[in-house]
Amino acid sequence: MALKNIRLEVMQTVEKEIDSYIDQYLIPVDEIWQPTDLLPNFQKENYMDEVIQIREEAKELGYDFWIVLVGDMVTEEALPTYESWLMDMEGVDQHGRNGWSKWIRHWTGEENRHGDTLNKYLYLSGRVNMKEVERTTQHLINDGFEVGTGRDPYRNFIYTSFQELATNVSHNRVGKIAKQKGNKSLAKMCNIIAGDEMRHHLAYRQFVKTIFEYDASEMMIAFQDMMQKKIIMPAQNLRQSGGKMASAFDDFSNAAQRLGVYTTYDYIDILEKLNAHWEISKISNLTDEAEKARDYLLKLPSRMLRIAERIKIPQDANRFKWVEPNGIV
Ligand SMILES: [Fe+2]
Ligand SMILES: [Fe+2]
Repeated sequence: MALKNIRLEVMQTVEKEIDSYIDQYLIPVDEIWQPTDLLPNFQKENYMDEVIQIREEAKELGYDFWIVLVGDMVTEEALPTYESWLMDMEGVDQHGRNGWSKWIRHWTGEENRHGDTLNKYLYLSGRVNMKEVERTTQHLINDGFEVGTGRDPYRNFIYTSFQELATNVSHNRVGKIAKQKGNKSLAKMCNIIAGDEMRHHLAYRQFVKTIFEYDASEMMIAFQDMMQKKIIMPAQNLRQSGGKMASAFDDFSNAAQRLGVYTTYDYIDILEKLNAHWEISKISNLTDEAEKARDYLLKLPSRMLRIAERIKIPQDANRFKWVEPNGIV
C-alpha cells in the first residue's frame, strides 16, 4: 500500500502544474485546426470540384496504402476506449473534475479530430468500402484493448509517451507517400495530425521526466515492465466483419511494415529516443531492482536490433473487405 500512496502523492504534485502543461502542449479550441479546414466546404457552390479533386488524387494510391490508412483511421476512431482507460488511471478523479481529468478531456478533444478527419477523407475518396470499415471500428470499440498498464499512471505514461510518437511517425510517413503520389490534400491532413501527435508525445514524455525526479526507482521499474511486455498497439484487437477478435491486426501491421510506415526499426528508434531524453543512463540512487531495470533498458535497443534483422515480413498483401469490391489492385 505504501507504494500506491507515493504514486498518488506524485500524481498530486504533478497535477499542480496541469494548467501550465495544458497551455504548453495543447492548443485552445478557437485557435486549433478543425477537420473542415482540410475538407471540401459543402456550403460553397463549388464543393463538387473539391470532391472530384479528392477522388482523382486518390486513384494513384495502392492496395497496402488503403489498408494502412483504414487501419490508422480505425485506430483513431476507437478513442472511446482510450479515454475510458485514461480516466480509470489512479490519481484521476473525473467526478471531482481534478486536474488530471481535465487533461484527459482536453487531450481527448484534440484526438477526436483525427479520426473525424480521416473518416471523412476516406468516405469522400470513394476507394474503400465504408460499411466494412465502419463495422471494423465498431468491433474494435466493442473489443477494447489490454495494454498491460493496469491503473498505474507510471505505466500508462510510458505507454502514451511511446504510442504518441509511434502515431506521429506513422501519420507522417503516410503523408509523405501521399505527397509523392501527388495527393496534396491527404498529405496535409496527415502532417497536421502528426503535429498533434508530436505535441501529445512531448507532454507525456514530460510527465514521465517529472515523475523520474520524484520516484525514480518505481518509474524505472514501470518502464522496464512496459518494455518487457512490449508496447502493444492500440489496434491489437483489429478484426473485419465475420472475423475473430484480433485476426486482422497482423495483416494490417505487415502492410505498414511493407510500406515503411511503421516498422520494428521505428519501435527500436522510439525506445532509444526515450532512453536518451529521460537520461536513463545517468539516473542513480536507485534500488537494486531499479538498477537492474535500468541496465535492461539500456541494453534493450541493441538486443532488439539483432532480433529485428532476422524478422521477415510477408510480401503478399492480404485481401481486405475494406477495399475489396472496389477492385483496386
Ligand atoms: Fe491521434
Ligand atoms: Fe495520439
